Amino acid sequence: MKGLILGAGNGTRLHPFTRVTPKVLLLVANKPIVHYCIEKLVQLGIEEIGIVIQPAQKPLFMKRVGLGELWGVNIQYINQYIPKGIADAIKLAERFIENDAFLLLLGDNMLAESLESLRDSVLSGQHDAALLLGKVAKPQDYGIAEIEGDKIVGLEEKPSHPKTNLAVLGAYAFGPKLFEAVHAIAPSQRGEYEITDALKWLLRENASISYRMTEREHSDVGRPDRWLSTNRWMLEQFVHTSGRHERLIAAGCTIIGPVIIDDRAELDNCTIGPYVSIGPYVRLKNCTVKDSILLEGVGMMNKTIHHAIISPRHSYYLNRLEASQ
Ligand code: G1P
Repeated sequence: MKGLILGAGNGTRLHPFTRVTPKVLLLVANKPIVHYCIEKLVQLGIEEIGIVIQPAQKPLFMKRVGLGELWGVNIQYINQYIPKGIADAIKLAERFIENDAFLLLLGDNMLAESLESLRDSVLSGQHDAALLLGKVAKPQDYGIAEIEGDKIVGLEEKPSHPKTNLAVLGAYAFGPKLFEAVHAIAPSQRGEYEITDALKWLLRENASISYRMTEREHSDVGRPDRWLSTNRWMLEQFVHTSGRHERLIAAGCTIIGPVIIDDRAELDNCTIGPYVSIGPYVRLKNCTVKDSILLEGVGMMNKTIHHAIISPRHSYYLNRLEASQ
């Protein structure tokens, strides 16, 4: 089985942060989002991973992800010049997949659920596809599934009147039959080759699509507020304030976990946390930072930063009033 991660989206809802950095390379708890996806695939024993990217962004991917050396797997990059939808990206990966089964991850989705059961549904030959479903509060924003027993019986992409609140989350397992589907469909009204249309084509052809329902946390890092909440989630899971902060405490800082602070950051007389990620070469003096992401190279003095994402050139404050403090 192979793995395929989609990372070519324009990430427009995260502009200006995604003007230079592709969305899947944005940092959550100081780690690129795509690393979490790769780890998910590695946990399943997948060793051949394709990542669909915009070709101009390849140097950045080589720097932050490489060819899989970090995880002992092979990573291959697949070019998508213009993002034209998930099903289009799959078409471009056909040569890489080579008739194998594969696990598809949308590179901006982070999931707590293990994907073993999706993998096994398809590898066992019982189903042509398997989807991860989760209950969501705003079904209008997702592909929505109808189920009967252990099968998917209907799907709709971002319906204005959803029949259920069961959203298709960003993880799918597929057998090779999907390639017939992605070639058969036409672009949708928004001009994209929709994965939902390919799945509906499979249903019309009497293919079998199973699902796994997750009760566990999931997040699509598609907007700045969700980037911040995903950062909180990951810090909570993986990061505990450890004794590693003596250097900062000696410099007059108070650290309230969970936080992650790159060793190359320089902080002087600051209160940091909870829920803060501080990247390399950040320099802060007399600042209070809470629930925020400070990206590489940020420099600030005498500031209070709450619920914010800050890069050297741009800033986003969840609550605009706080920006003027
Ligand atoms: C895509 C899919 C949608 C799915 C969602 C999950 O939507 O088209 O079916 O539910 O990802 O995040 P997008 O967010 O790319 O518009």
